[in-house]
Amino acid sequence: TLSNSTNIFWQECQVGKPDRQKLLNQKGCVVWITGLSGSGKSTLAFSLGRELHSRGKLSYVLDGDNLRHGLNKDLGFKPEDRTENIRRTGEVAKLFADAGLICVASLISPYRRDRDTCRAMLPDANFIEVFMNMPLELCEARDPKGLYKLARAGKIKGFTGIDDPYEPPVNCEIELKQENGICPTPTLMAGKVVTYLEEKG
Ligand code: PPS
Repeated sequence: TLSNSTNIFWQECQVGKPDRQKLLNQKGCVVWITGLSGSGKSTLAFSLGRELHSRGKLSYVLDGDNLRHGLNKDLGFKPEDRTENIRRTGEVAKLFADAGLICVASLISPYRRDRDTCRAMLPDANFIEVFMNMPLELCEARDPKGLYKLARAGKIKGFTGIDDPYEPPVNCEIELKQENGICPTPTLMAGKVVTYLEEKG
């Protein structure tokens, strides 16, 4: 990406990622949870955070809704704002991973290209994309914040899944969906992610 800054130089730290990883006894990475509003991204993210913590692993959750209260409070939901939202969050997640943490990011991140940009920021398969593949009907029936109702009534414009696109992943590492019409519990889904992380070291 282009930088607007000129005359800037990259400074090398004396303590590197391998040193931090050794200290923490874990490898830094980014678990990126994508899916529709109401698909259970945040619930999974916080459940995963708890699961990792109980196993002595240091993690940090970057939740889209929460980031929009601070770091990304200047952004709305226009395509270019969503792209900037994902770019910024990707950069922060990259820093957390470099710090040695398991960074769990949960954002709708509706555009495939934006998610792939974040993937490209992370080296060596350190970006694990988790797709909450829940049907729109289920998310809409849940409607935890009443936003689908407002979107259907035309009171919110450009709502993902209603009058704004969601591009499902084609190359995600983990896909979570209903089994026999039943949604797995957050604990079960978090367990699947933990198993994947364990298998990949
Ligand atoms: S994005 O698309 O990745 O930039 O979105 P994100 O930062 O994850 O924020 C999604 C939450 O914002 C609320 N919200 C909307 N979502 C989608 N479209 C529109 N227009 C919109 N307006 C507000 C909504 O509560 C999302 O929360 P989640 O947790 O996904 O349900």
